[in-house]
Amino acid sequence: MKIAVLPGDGIGTEIVAEAVRVLDVLDLKFEMETALVGGAAYEAHGHPLPDSTLKLAKEADAVLFGAVGDWKYDKLDRPLRPEQAILGLRTNLGQFANFRPAICYEQLVGASSLKPELIAGLDILIIRELTGDIYFGQPRGKRVAIDGHFPGAEEAFDTMRYSKPEIERIARVAFEAARKRNKRVTSVDKANVLETFQFWKDVVTEVHKDYPDVELDHMYVDNAAMQLVKAPKKFDVVVTGNMFGDILSDEAAMLTGSIGMLPSASLNSNKQGLYEPSHGSAPDIAGQGVANPLATILSAAMMLRFSLDQAEAADRIESAVKSVLASGLRTADIWSEGTTQVGTREMGDAVVAAITKKTITG
Ligand code: IPM
Ligand code: MG
Repeated sequence: MKIAVLPGDGIGTEIVAEAVRVLDVLDLKFEMETALVGGAAYEAHGHPLPDSTLKLAKEADAVLFGAVGDWKYDKLDRPLRPEQAILGLRTNLGQFANFRPAICYEQLVGASSLKPELIAGLDILIIRELTGDIYFGQPRGKRVAIDGHFPGAEEAFDTMRYSKPEIERIARVAFEAARKRNKRVTSVDKANVLETFQFWKDVVTEVHKDYPDVELDHMYVDNAAMQLVKAPKKFDVVVTGNMFGDILSDEAAMLTGSIGMLPSASLNSNKQGLYEPSHGSAPDIAGQGVANPLATILSAAMMLRFSLDQAEAADRIESAVKSVLASGLRTADIWSEGTTQVGTREMGDAVVAAITKKTITG
């Protein structure tokens, strides 16, 4: 088994280093190979996703990804910006199914900006379609308007589109996932305004016929954004398109107190996955050793479970993280009165120690 390790930019290198240390200590049989991606790859090779990096990712059973991006690249032509690396990996690897769990850890209830009773015990899974929608729809570009409110004016446009098979396959992923949880799916759309999402709703409803044991409801995206802060525990699995999923998954992540805790997985139909923290490259704190490595460490656990068939090793990581939190260690983003603030490296050390201690004591 092979893991492509792509740390990327900003805090990416620091947090991925800790996840790699955690994987090393598990003593499993796999090979890890590191490559540049994002701004770091642009600096070295003139492209955010060099052919060699893409080749490595394609050959690997899984990709462990840090984060990409820095404001200093905002002026580059779009195809050369760091974000294109992640979009390029998703489409080239066909990773259409993005899993973004939003789990509120017992010890971190106080870190949320919502009232504790609203989020204690929160466990939602957002399933975001990742290779379609307005993100990738063609045509797109700039032109002179021939109609609209200002004919003759300069305008820019993107295309929102979904084909039936694209909706069917992500709906199946959501229903299957719900079967392993509380058997409820909320499909989020904007069917009241958009053709694309009326179609989405119709296709999801049709696929649902194959899953009578799962409860399905539909919700408009604006209402979903509201319900997420009003009564988040009412959700189990949320399935939605690429654009709405981008927005709602950040919202859901923040309910839990810190986006620094949340892993994510992007899978194709062969279970080849890309695993990354839900947060970004945070250039403002890069290189200071203060970033929270737990989302990346938990992403490595998801990788072991979903792509590498090592559920037991994944459990060991997850329980180590819980015991470290229980011991009161916190990085700055999740610190609260009465807990002990530590840096990136110390947090990694603590997880490694918790794993080795469990191994020794059985
Ligand atoms: C995410 C990010 C990306 C996205 C960016 C970096 C292209 O926000 O993974 O949610 O919009 O999908
Ligand atoms: Mg996003």
